[in-house]
Amino acid sequence: MNPAIESYPLEQRPPSLPPIHSVKLTVNGTETELQIAPWTSLLDALREYMNLTGTKKGCDHGQCGACTVLVNGKRINSCLTLAIMQEDAEITTIEGLASTGGGLHPLQTSFIERDAFQCGYCTPGQICSAVGLMNEGKAKTTADIRELMSGNICRCGAYTNIVDAIEDVMNQKNA
Ligand code: FES
Ligand code: FES
Repeated sequence: MNPAIESYPLEQRPPSLPPIHSVKLTVNGTETELQIAPWTSLLDALREYMNLTGTKKGCDHGQCGACTVLVNGKRINSCLTLAIMQEDAEITTIEGLASTGGGLHPLQTSFIERDAFQCGYCTPGQICSAVGLMNEGKAKTTADIRELMSGNICRCGAYTNIVDAIEDVMNQKNA
């Protein structure tokens, strides 16, 4: 946070400074109270105020999917929602997908096995989106996976291996 903003007690804040609100977020099972401007996006709250930098900022306006997280099990672009709107939600980021014992999520393992990334910038969003896709249960075919993952852009063009990685986990689940 801007130290100039932080140093003012709320009651003494000059009108030129943005208002600060107390917002409680539950992220990866832990509740945290943040003092943030009401227009702070969930993405910025995660990255700038909670140090959860696994969630990436690509476009910051809903075009790339790099910022995908799970809210109550559903995938959303965290750049398109305000943190204050998610106070009663269970938010899961890439940092929270591994099991409590530290084992990787099956999709994380599969992305490694299938070599489904190059620079890795899009990968947290791809994996969170794939978890959401599987929760939705609508993808039945390879073409469905391609279509339903089309909101997640990969500038490195790792699409073929990303789809293979997701399909492997879906097949394991259905076996
Ligand atoms: S950073 Fe949110 S969709 Fe691109
Ligand atoms: S792995 Fe580089 S953008 Fe997807």
